[in-house]
Amino acid sequence: MIEKINGLKEEIQKKCQIVSSTKELNDLRVEYLGKKGPIQGLSSMMGSLTIEEKKEFGRSLNELKTEVNHWIEERKHELEKKELEERLEKESIDITLPSTELKVGGVHPITKIIDEVEELFVSMGYDVVEGPEVELDLYNFERLNLPKGHPARDSQDSFYITDEVLLRTQTSPVQARTMEANEEKKPIRVICPGKTYRRDNDDATHSHQFHQIEGLVVDENISLADLKGTLEILAKTMFGEEREIRLRPSFFPFTEPSIEVDVSCFKCGGKGCSLCKGTGWIEILGSGMVHPNVLKANGYDPDKYTGFAFGIGPERIAMLKYGITDIRNFYTNDLRFLNDFNRVEGGK
Ligand code: DAH
Repeated sequence: MIEKINGLKEEIQKKCQIVSSTKELNDLRVEYLGKKGPIQGLSSMMGSLTIEEKKEFGRSLNELKTEVNHWIEERKHELEKKELEERLEKESIDITLPSTELKVGGVHPITKIIDEVEELFVSMGYDVVEGPEVELDLYNFERLNLPKGHPARDSQDSFYITDEVLLRTQTSPVQARTMEANEEKKPIRVICPGKTYRRDNDDATHSHQFHQIEGLVVDENISLADLKGTLEILAKTMFGEEREIRLRPSFFPFTEPSIEVDVSCFKCGGKGCSLCKGTGWIEILGSGMVHPNVLKANGYDPDKYTGFAFGIGPERIAMLKYGITDIRNFYTNDLRFLNDFNRVEGGK
C-alpha cells in the first residue's frame, strides 16, 4: 500500500511539471483528487486494514493529499504567470509600426471664399439670407428694373422653365425678396450667397452654373462713401491689407450710379504685370447705389431711403487669389486639383 502511495506521489509530481496550461492542470487535479480518482480509491480500501495499518496508511494518504494540493497550487501560480505574460506579449502594440493614413477632406475653394466673405460681413452686423434657385421672372428681372423686353436681359441668357419661371441668373432677386419681406420697411444689411445659372457654353472662363454673393444695404442717408468704405474693407480682407480700390463708372439696370470696383494688383503691387494686363488694377465686382425704381418696386420710399448693392463672383475671386486658370476645375472634383488647393492653403 505504502509503495502504491509513493508511486502515486512520484507520478503526480512528474505530471504536474509536464502540464503546460492551467486547463491541463485542472484536468490533472480532477483525475487524481476527484471522486473517481486513485487517491479516493485508496481511501475506500482502508476498511480492510487493521487499526495499526489504518493509522499509518491514513497518515500517508493525508500527507499525499496535502502534498498533491501543494504541488498543484504551486504549479497553478507558475502557469497563470506564464499565461498572463504570453497574453500581454500577444496583445502588446508596436507603436513604431506606420499607421494607416487617415484621409481628411478639405473645404472646397468656393465654399472657403463664401465663408470668408460671410464672416467679414457678419462681423459688420449683416445678416446672411438665401433665396430660391428656381425663381420668378418677377424677382429675377422685373423688380430689379429690368422689364420684359429690356435689352440688358440679353446679357444674362437664361434657363426658362415656363414664361414666368427660370433658374435665377444672379443672386440680385434676393434683394427684391428681402425688401418685400421686410414688412415694416426697416433698414436692411444683408449678404446673400448662392448658386446661379446662365445658358453659357462651358469653357475655361464660363460655366452654366456658378456662384454669386449679393450684398444689400438700405437705410436713411446711405451714400457712395459707405459703399466705397465697405468694399475697401472687403478688398483688403480678401487680397491683403496693402490693397487699394478704384471705382469705375458702369451700368447695371438696378443701380444708379453703377460702379465697377477694381483692386490694385496683388501680384505686382500695381506696377503692371501679366495678371493685371499691365494696368496695375484687377476688376473684382459690380456694385452701385440702389436704383430708386428698385426701392419703389419693392416697397421702400426712395425719398426717405437710399442704399447700395454689390455682387461678387466667388469663382472669379478664387481664380485670382489662387491662380486658377480654368473655372471647370471647381466643378469636376478632381482630387488632384482639390488636394493641391488644400496644400496651397496649408490645410487651414
Ligand atoms: N447681378 C449682377 C450680375 O450678375 C452683379 C451685380 C452688379 C449685383 C451690381 C449688384 C450690383 O447688386 O449692384 O452681373
